[in-house]
Amino acid sequence: MNGVHYDDARVVEELIAEQKPGYSLGQRFYTDPDIYELELERIVYRNWILAGHQSELPTTGDFKVFRVAGESAIIVRSDDGTIKAFANVCRHRGSVVCLESRGNTRKFVCPYHGWTYDIDGALIAARDMPDDFDWDGHGLHRVSCDVVHGLILVCFSAAPPSLENCKKEMAEPMAMFDFENLKLASHKAYAIPANWKLSIENYQECYHCATAHPDYARMHTLMLDRKKRERVQGHMLEKMDDCGMQNLYVDRIDTAARPGEIGYGYSRTALFEGYLTGSKDGQPVAPLLGSLTDYDGGASDMTFGPMSFLLAYSDHVVAYVFTPVDFENSRCDIYWLVRDNAAEGKDYDVDELTWLWDVTTEADKTIIVNNYKGVCSRFYQPGPFSGMERPERIYVEWLLQELARPL
Ligand code: FES
Ligand SMILES: [Fe+2]
Repeated sequence: MNGVHYDDARVVEELIAEQKPGYSLGQRFYTDPDIYELELERIVYRNWILAGHQSELPTTGDFKVFRVAGESAIIVRSDDGTIKAFANVCRHRGSVVCLESRGNTRKFVCPYHGWTYDIDGALIAARDMPDDFDWDGHGLHRVSCDVVHGLILVCFSAAPPSLENCKKEMAEPMAMFDFENLKLASHKAYAIPANWKLSIENYQECYHCATAHPDYARMHTLMLDRKKRERVQGHMLEKMDDCGMQNLYVDRIDTAARPGEIGYGYSRTALFEGYLTGSKDGQPVAPLLGSLTDYDGGASDMTFGPMSFLLAYSDHVVAYVFTPVDFENSRCDIYWLVRDNAAEGKDYDVDELTWLWDVTTEADKTIIVNNYKGVCSRFYQPGPFSGMERPERIYVEWLLQELARPL
């Protein structure tokens, strides 16, 4: 186990055993760098993470670099047309190979001594090496990469969780929005100086929405408790059929509980009446997605693994990816996707499209950082979850279960 000693693992087991059900995590889960190392091995690198949409790399040689904690992968459209990922680590003496964050190239040249790799990761040039040098044995290491209905997923483990059932069960909901043929309209990375788990925990619950997000709370009914929310679903359910929207549901809790498989889920929730989509005035911000014919007034939550979440409105998709940078810093990447033939400036305006989740994420950043400050205090003690924080409670229980599961 990388960087984690037996004693640390035993301490973690004790901390897990001390954890009171229904309460937030103990302080050391947020502040102890050794626990963070264990999380990287058992959770972060062991699971699939959304790294973008295939439309970002339309042409052979298009690449982007994807960083998570201490790891970096080059994701590239290779000669055979497929998207592949390679560890961004030179096979000579280990320098980072690609320093750019995206571009188009025929080869990657290491900035240290010039070893050169083609877009299939093969080593094609290295000066002054012996005649019997094993060229084939020094290509860039492969990183697990798959494209699921247009979404690029990356996993830093050589034995990633199976995607088979996810591909099958999510096919129908994703086809409604034609995920394969979306295009990236905007991307923004938010640096959040707080432990990564607080960023995800915050996304899991909407107990804070009424207090922290006045704009979001005007349109999203998720800030209501379950019973009230079910009452307001009616107007959406009545419209769905006429809009070409199927009433589908995939239970994400069930899927997260299956060992060896990616967790995934799908559900659709009504916005408040009068809101067609997630925009300032609730009016459309882009052309309808897929084969949808009208607005049903709902938004679909989708989950892919423990760090990637999507929200599909009728006319655009917002994808959120929360990853650690180090044990006290995290990042939220947001991707805004629209249908591929929508023209910027004519069919959508980037500022209008991104407004809601930009203001909401900025507000989230502030509350997460404040949360982290308090969690690091000597006076912090785990507090009880409310009913509305049920998804966060389930998430925390899952984290602890994974943390206790050896590699
Ligand atoms: S470390 Fe890359 S060429 Fe030497
Ligand atoms: Fe929030």
